[in-house]
Amino acid sequence: MEIRIEKTTTPNVMPPEDRLGFGKVFTDHMFVMEYTEGEGWKDARIVPFGRISLHPASTVLHYGAEIFEGLKAYRRADGGVQLFRPMENIKRMNRSAERMSLPLLNETDALEILTTFVKMEERWVPKSFGTSLYLRPFLFGNDESLGVHAVKNATFMLIASPSGSYYAEGIDPVKIMIESEDVRTVRGGTGYAKCGGNYAASTRAGERAAKKGYTQVLWLDGVERKYIEEVGAMNVMFKIDGKIVTPALTGSILPGITRKSCIEVLRSLGYTVEERLLSVDELVSAMESGALEEAWGCGTAAVVSPIGQLAYGEKEYVIGEGKIGAVTQKLYDILTGIQWGKTDDPFGWVYPL
Ligand code: PLP
Ligand code: COI
Repeated sequence: MEIRIEKTTTPNVMPPEDRLGFGKVFTDHMFVMEYTEGEGWKDARIVPFGRISLHPASTVLHYGAEIFEGLKAYRRADGGVQLFRPMENIKRMNRSAERMSLPLLNETDALEILTTFVKMEERWVPKSFGTSLYLRPFLFGNDESLGVHAVKNATFMLIASPSGSYYAEGIDPVKIMIESEDVRTVRGGTGYAKCGGNYAASTRAGERAAKKGYTQVLWLDGVERKYIEEVGAMNVMFKIDGKIVTPALTGSILPGITRKSCIEVLRSLGYTVEERLLSVDELVSAMESGALEEAWGCGTAAVVSPIGQLAYGEKEYVIGEGKIGAVTQKLYDILTGIQWGKTDDPFGWVYPL
C-alpha cells in the first residue's frame, strides 16, 4: 500500500526511561487513513502527532462506534526491535470491527502500517528491560449525522507511547476485590470485542475498588454473577490443586493474546490447563481449603500480574502468602524473555523489524 509521509519539524525529546509510566508520552508522528463506503480506505499517511478535528455529530461521539488494539514494540538486547504476534492483534481488531459494524482492515496492509510506523519511530523504543513502545491502533465511526446505523465513514489511526510498567506495583502482587454489582459485559454483548464502551462502563467499579484500597476488580458474569470472567482489563488464571484453570471464552471475555500465549507455554511445560467455567463458590472453597496456590492476571500491558490478596464481601483471602508464585514467575520470565529477545523463541512468536 502507499503511505504518504510528512515528517515533523519539531521532534520531541524522550523522557528518562525510569519515568515513563504508561501511556503518558507520545511519539512525534501518528498514522491516519479514512474509509468511505464504496471507496474503501484512502489517503494513508504518517503525519506529525497532533490534535484531530471532528464534526460535532460524528458517530463516535454519540454512539460509541470505536474499537482499539494494544501491542508493543520491544527493544532486544542486540539493539534490534521486534513485535510479538502482531497478526493476532490485527485479526482481533477485525473481529471487533465486525461486531461494531465498522469497516475491516486488509490484514497485509495493517501489518505494513504497523511496521512502517514503528520503523519511523524507532528511536522512541526505549532500551531498558521491561520498557517498550506501546502501540495503540484505533478505529472509529465518523459519519456526520445523528441517525443510528452502521457507519459509511470511518477513521483508522495509530499512535505510540514509550511506556514502563502498567501498574505502579510492577510485578509485585496486587490486591483485588470481587465485584458483585457492576458487570463488564454480557454474552451476546461486546465482551469479546475491544471496544471503548466496555472500558467506559468498567471504570466505575475500578474507581470504587481503588477507594477501598484495591488495585482492580475481579469481574463476574453478567447473567448469574456466579462465574469468574476477567480481572480489571486482563484475563485471569488460577493454579488450583496443581492444575491451571482459566475462564473459557464464552463471548463476554476478551480473547487475550497473552492468555493464549500463557496457555501454550504452560501446556509445553506439561501443565494441565483447563479452560472452563469457574464459579466464585469454587474459588472461595479453594481459597479456604488452601487448594488455590496462585492467581494472576495476564495482558499485554502488564504481561503477568500476581494477585496476592482477594476480597469477597467482607472476607479477605491472602494467596500464596501474598508473594508471586512459582508458575506466575516462570510465565513472566518465559514471556518477557521471548518478547525482549533475551531467550530463544521456540514458538515462532516474535516478528523482528
Ligand atoms: N482483557 C481485557 C478486557 C483487555 O483489555 C485486555 C488487553 O488488551 C486483555 C484482557 C488482555 O489481552 P492481551 O493479552 O491481548 O493484551
Ligand atoms: C492490556 O494490555 O492488558 C490492557 O488491558 C491494556 C489497557 C490499557 C486497555
